[in-house]
Amino acid sequence: MTSIVSTPIAYDYPQQNAAGGTCTAQAWAKTPPQLHGTEKAAVIARIKQLLIEKDAALVAHYYVDGDIQDLAMETSGYVADSLEMARFGKNHSAKNLIVAGVRFMGESAKILSPEKRVFMPDLEASCSLDLGCDAADFAAFRALHPDRTVVVYANTSAAVKAQADWMVTSSCALAIIHQIKVEGKKILWAPDRHLGRYIQEQTGADMLLWNGACIVHDEFKAVELEMLMAAHPNAMVLVHPESPQAVVDLADVVGSTSAMIKAVVEGSATEYIVATDNGILHRMRQLAPNKVLIEAPTAGDSATCKSCAHCPWMAMNGLQGILNCLENASGEIFIKEDVRIKALGCIERMLDFTQNHPDLLAKAQHGFVKNIGVA
Ligand code: 13P
Ligand code: SF4
Repeated sequence: MTSIVSTPIAYDYPQQNAAGGTCTAQAWAKTPPQLHGTEKAAVIARIKQLLIEKDAALVAHYYVDGDIQDLAMETSGYVADSLEMARFGKNHSAKNLIVAGVRFMGESAKILSPEKRVFMPDLEASCSLDLGCDAADFAAFRALHPDRTVVVYANTSAAVKAQADWMVTSSCALAIIHQIKVEGKKILWAPDRHLGRYIQEQTGADMLLWNGACIVHDEFKAVELEMLMAAHPNAMVLVHPESPQAVVDLADVVGSTSAMIKAVVEGSATEYIVATDNGILHRMRQLAPNKVLIEAPTAGDSATCKSCAHCPWMAMNGLQGILNCLENASGEIFIKEDVRIKALGCIERMLDFTQNHPDLLAKAQHGFVKNIGVA
């Protein structure tokens, strides 16, 4: 395969605010307390009642707290990857959507459904990829390369999507970029450098990459993973493509959250090493109770560092926050209409492509993703 030289842009997400606090520390500090016993049961019962009374649907990502995922499944809601969350919100008839996930997921729902009111348990639940791709800096990057088709990952702000030709998620990125390449176009990609590199390697597309990363997946370590694999030689290794190349290179399956769940449910192995946010294990256990799931190692605890495979912003979603949305209309998403209209095009293009070209999606999955069919 032709090797394409990427030109990463040096831009790092703001790890510290003016007061010296890190954005992840602030997120952890805002993690809501776990509810238990009768208090938890009462909050869940009240949410169920209000979802009906207020004509609202709860849509949750696989990384949020298991109680919230269960609540979405028990009501008229949905638990999904970021592509299917967007599609669900658009197609659902409810007047109100409660989005349990991170900010870009709520924004995508609002961009697609301006007639609906969209709420989130905590509007400060962000994402290092979104934080690391400032709209003005991105505009400057884009201005340097006007000849390129602009493709952005879903994990970006509405203001960045407003500058893009295409939005993709990890479920459909390979198929869409393969198609753009077949049309003879060069690509400008943002913000995840690991996912961008992976797509570039798999498709051979000419891509310029923004230098962003997911702080959760960036922590997976190949050396420790190899030791774990040696201890579990029959385990299938599942890796989300936001992970570093050395980790992706060890994978049996590279794919989106839904692709990883499919691999566990349909795989013939008994043991699975899972390199993504550990919130996903809840749904995997429910769908494949007989499989053994092992978390992939991160840098872990030491004298100088502490890391875990859990997104601090996803952890900001709690039952009480959902109740606040329904009782007090708190956490509503607003997007300026001119930005929304500009951002709509790239999301609709992705939804239309994925709906109208299941063949291309399947081909890309079979052709490029190791050991897996369509997610
Ligand atoms: P998926 O689209 O695979 O659900 O991933 C979203 C995400 O934020 C992964 O970190
Ligand atoms: Fe963003 Fe990573 Fe959290 Fe996903 S897990 S929302 S990419 S910081």
